[in-house]
Amino acid sequence: MQRPAPIGVFDSGYGGLTVLKEIAGQLPQYDYLYLGDNARSPYGNRSFDTVYHNTLQCVKWFFDQGCSLVILACNTASAKALRTIQQNDLPEIAPDKRVLGVIRPTAEVIGTFSETKNVGILATQGTVNSDSYPMEIAKFFPGLKIYQEACPMWVPLVENNEQNSHGADFFVKKNLHNIFEKGENIDVILLACTHYPLLQEKIEEYLPVGVKLISQGEIVAKSLADYLNRHPEIENRCSKNSQRVFYTTDSTGDFDNHAAIFYGQPVQSRHIDLESVN
Ligand code: DGL
Repeated sequence: MQRPAPIGVFDSGYGGLTVLKEIAGQLPQYDYLYLGDNARSPYGNRSFDTVYHNTLQCVKWFFDQGCSLVILACNTASAKALRTIQQNDLPEIAPDKRVLGVIRPTAEVIGTFSETKNVGILATQGTVNSDSYPMEIAKFFPGLKIYQEACPMWVPLVENNEQNSHGADFFVKKNLHNIFEKGENIDVILLACTHYPLLQEKIEEYLPVGVKLISQGEIVAKSLADYLNRHPEIENRCSKNSQRVFYTTDSTGDFDNHAAIFYGQPVQSRHIDLESVN
């Protein structure tokens, strides 16, 4: 019997903190171990192989810390690495551990928000190119029309604390204009990148009246609660002392300054060098 350990939450950088905030809010009793791979972010424009390799290395690090459950709180990693990790790696390296992503839980419910049955997805180039959202959503809402728009400048804007700048106005306006040109009946916009909730105010300024803006944090948190209810064998291996521990692969000073904005509370991180994990 393994000792209970925290639930691992992973992102390329800070974005996953917007998800952790919601998860820890809904399920405060659990311990959480967060890892931001800031030294190698952004993932959004990297190749499949790079995202897969980096994500797998981080997942192995969580397993080394004893975690039985890891959430990829990053759409790009969920799109490009999750399936291969679940199908090829887990059976070999850790058959009794689980890795979950953010795309499937979102796909399961997104259709319920739309009346026109036209949904717009804003995401990184990698997530858009993978076509993961249209494919997953079609399994649950076959009639739903999906329009995608890659917003490659949004993560750098957020990472550089430029979410209220004129630059943010320019790019938010541009990408929203593009997606509504593709689908004029869109009545739901999904922020399919965990960094984008930081741009929410800016997006709302340019969003046509009546269009709903959906972030994933709450959806993922609900889905995790449901998963833990249905899988007592995993739930029993999640420790429950309400502790949160944060790691970054880059500078802790930068992480702490930035992380507080994403997490909504002060954060004190530790540094981890992943070179020894293979
Ligand atoms: N936060 C990640 C996501 O949800 C992307 C950030 C990045 O490009 O690294 O897709």
